[in-house]
Amino acid sequence: MAIERTLSIIKPDAVKKNVIGEIITRFERAGLKVVEGKLVTLSREDAEGFYAEHKERGFFNDLVSFMTSGPVFVQVLEGEEAIAKNRQIMGATNPKEAAAGTLRHDYADSIDANAVHGSDSSTSAAREIAYFFGG
Ligand code: PPS
Repeated sequence: MAIERTLSIIKPDAVKKNVIGEIITRFERAGLKVVEGKLVTLSREDAEGFYAEHKERGFFNDLVSFMTSGPVFVQVLEGEEAIAKNRQIMGATNPKEAAAGTLRHDYADSIDANAVHGSDSSTSAAREIAYFFGG
């Protein structure tokens, strides 16, 4: 099995709910290790750059406003198959479709405020980790 790194963001809604620790515990129990982490408040420029691939989508402005509405906890998770494992732990983008026991099922209120982000491929993981933590 490949040891990978992936970018995870605990979004403003989950930070406001005071569940950073509970979310990290889920990752740790699944065998993922936090190897970098920081609490940051994104500027609009930060969020627009991070989500640039979605800039033509109808929800883009709302997504940027949400992601800049309060602090986020940005972290790098490391472990076997970390990219897929993180997405499995997160659950579906829309919490109404997220399986029981996933983070979005348990902590997210809507598709607009869905608690966590995780890189969706090794290419995205490399770009996203470099975006927040440098090369
Ligand atoms: S999609 O619809 O399959 O392209 O969605 P996805 O590529 O998984 O992620 C899109 C990111 O935008 C956030 N977002 C929304 N997606 C869909 N519809 C609405 N209304 C919406 N609002 C926000 C979604 O959570 C994804 O963000 P990240 O941070 O990657 O999870």
